[in-house]
Amino acid sequence: MYSVLIVDDDAALRLILSDFLSQEDYKILLAKDGREALDLLKRQQVDILLLDINMPGMTGMEVLEKVKELGENPLVIMLSALQEVKLAVKAVKLGAYDYLSKPVNLEELKLVIEKGLQHRQLERKAEHLEQRIQESWSPAGLIGTSPAMKRVFQFIDKVARTDTTVLIQGESGTGKELVAYAIHQCSLRKDKPFITIDCGAIPEELVESELFGHEKGAFTGALQKKEGKFELAKGGTLFLDEIGNLPLPGQAKLLRALEQRQITRVGGISMIPVDVRIIAATNVILSQATREGKFREDLFYRLNVFILELPPLRERKEDIPLLVENFLHRFAQQQRKNIREISPEAMELLLNYHWPGNVRELRNVLERAIILAEDSIRPEHLPNFSGSTPSPSLSSLSTLPFSEAKDKVLSDLEKEYILQALAKSGGNKAKAARALNINYRTLYEKMKKYGINV
Ligand SMILES: Nc1ncnc2c1ncn2[C@@H]1O[C@H](COP(=O)(O)OP(=O)(O)OP(=O)(O)O)[C@@H](O)[C@H]1O
Ligand SMILES: [Mg+2]
Repeated sequence: MYSVLIVDDDAALRLILSDFLSQEDYKILLAKDGREALDLLKRQQVDILLLDINMPGMTGMEVLEKVKELGENPLVIMLSALQEVKLAVKAVKLGAYDYLSKPVNLEELKLVIEKGLQHRQLERKAEHLEQRIQESWSPAGLIGTSPAMKRVFQFIDKVARTDTTVLIQGESGTGKELVAYAIHQCSLRKDKPFITIDCGAIPEELVESELFGHEKGAFTGALQKKEGKFELAKGGTLFLDEIGNLPLPGQAKLLRALEQRQITRVGGISMIPVDVRIIAATNVILSQATREGKFREDLFYRLNVFILELPPLRERKEDIPLLVENFLHRFAQQQRKNIREISPEAMELLLNYHWPGNVRELRNVLERAIILAEDSIRPEHLPNFSGSTPSPSLSSLSTLPFSEAKDKVLSDLEKEYILQALAKSGGNKAKAARALNINYRTLYEKMKKYGINV
């Protein structure tokens, strides 16, 4: 049911209009002047505003301006006497939808309102569409044909239809956020909000207020009542990004909210039930963070209902050509360049690189290449990949306890350095030791340890 606020100093007209419109199934609100109208608008949701132009005190034009200042956006229809038509036209320029001359023809009023509401709906739809187009990604935007990605798609399809909590684990840039959104878009909650909170980016003292909101005056700086992310996500999905970075006190509060399925705003007393689906993501391995005491075990078990491991790009290199083609197409269009091709040599380089930053890095490399290139992308448009030493993949280490993984990475690095120093010194151990700033004996022992022969 739409609500109509009728603002006119003429009591008889208010009565006629409200009688008629309540029969047409509108909810009626009345005000006899601008001040009353603005008071009501602050407190109540108003869909349609019938606004007399000529009133004592505040004129209709002034009320209209104030309404805009309030950030309210009802459908405004001005009511004007014949001699005020010029003003009415000006009001339309200021954002009123239309105007009617007095005496008001009731059938005409009904039509104008209906047309206005329709117009509104179309406007909203168009806005919505535009927003969707502007979003650089959509679930359909998830690219990949590798067996690893096919498993990811199957997983999305399976969990999307349920309300279960999902934990997405993967290196930086593997598409965790994209997948979380895809799950939301494939779920029954797709028309409800998808709200993201980056748990690592909020200062510790604000975590609670970000998650649960606060009442006015709850703490210094809380000038207004504010809804937290849990309330904003009502009926939809709450995406807890980088959950591994949530400070411990915040973890305790989050756990309580998830268990009780209700929250309290900071400084508030009432319990507010929450209906949200939780998806969490992390690029640290949570089970390990739990062992190290950085992540609450009970929270980990609560989140760990369904866990999705996103494979790093280097483990699904067969997806690279398709990703390249897509990014090429997208960025060429964005930058209005007619680049359709990538040379075989350039593709070879992309395929051989180990992509520590995963799909995001690939995307950035291509965006830059397209700026540099003229007609096709060639090796000179790509960064110099050869200088970097491939590091062991995080997922290949993830089975090891942290201290062992660390030792492994460090010894790989050490071995690499020694080999390089020896290569530069032409096999001269004394020279290599000096370059590495270690003594000869240490070098000798390390060479033995790593099985290096000159
Ligand atoms: N499978 C994919 N298909 C198409 N684009 C992808 C895919 N995976 C990732 N991307 C793109 O790569 C970029 C990084 O993805 P996203 O932000 O989802 O990664 P992330 O895992 O959340 O990274 P971080 O841990 O750094 O936050 C985005 O631009 C995203 O659109
Ligand atoms: Mg992310």
